[in-house]
Amino acid sequence: MKVIAGEVLEKGSISIKSDNNQHDYILRVLDINDLSAVMNLQSRLIDIMEQKELYVPITEEEMVQLFEGAGEALGLYIDNKLYAACSLLSQVPYESNMARELNFSEEELFRVAQLELSLVDPDLRGHKLQYRMAGILANRVRNKAEIRYLFTTVSPHNYPSIETVTSMGLYIAKLSKMYFDWDRYVVYRDFINPVQLDTANTVIVANTSFEEQQELLKNDYRGYSQFKDQDGIKIMYARKL
Ligand SMILES: CC(C)(COP(=O)(O)OP(=O)(O)OC[C@H]1O[C@@H](n2cnc3c(N)ncnc32)[C@H](O)[C@@H]1OP(=O)(O)O)[C@@H](O)C(=O)NCCC(=O)NCCS
Repeated sequence: MKVIAGEVLEKGSISIKSDNNQHDYILRVLDINDLSAVMNLQSRLIDIMEQKELYVPITEEEMVQLFEGAGEALGLYIDNKLYAACSLLSQVPYESNMARELNFSEEELFRVAQLELSLVDPDLRGHKLQYRMAGILANRVRNKAEIRYLFTTVSPHNYPSIETVTSMGLYIAKLSKMYFDWDRYVVYRDFINPVQLDTANTVIVANTSFEEQQELLKNDYRGYSQFKDQDGIKIMYARKL
């Protein structure tokens, strides 16, 4: 799919939780004119977030760099109000390159794209919008010859986001402290040589069992799926074939 800034990718109707009615929406590529709408959506959602450590805010400067060519962003508008946004960096600065967490070589760092911002207004949650928007951005970026890896980081407590990334084929490769000393899974997908896993021999671990997960990851296991039971979030690990 060829994506041009401002281009409308999808139009349709969607139900909003607060009034249970269908509303017309537009899903389109964002540009610099959407900057204040994105920053407003982010601050509005951060204000109401109970666990602030689930989300690392994007700065206005980073967003401007993205609009100036470092990546792409999509947004869903209803009646000129931005309800959801998602962005991907395809020119990733060295300092924030997540592949450094896995000691990738200097050359490989240039082949990394990163999913960055992901926001859905609570009124629209449950429509898999994060998955849908991130999927469009991922499909677009994998056509670029230089891009081989898609990275992002996810909190072990952010169930919808863990579900989104594993469904996109990004597997948990590391669990560490990042950003403001927050716990994060480093997840990635290799578009050229995807990891094959021995899923016939799955090990199930609680998201909070950090030592056990770190031991598995050290022994070539990858986290590839998840579910919830009465005790909380469980992550499914399998060894690389
Ligand atoms: C993460 C986020 C983008 C996911 O939104 P989404 O695409 O609408 O999520 P999904 O449609 O996959 O939701 C799956 C289920 O989880 C629920 N859910 C989604 N986000 C939730 C949240 N923050 N808190 C509680 N439940 C949530 C949905 O209602 C849905 O429930 P259902 O199956 O009973 O309908 C959204 O929660 C959000 O904006 N969170 C704040 C910012 C953030 O954490 N961004 C991601 C950083 S990696």
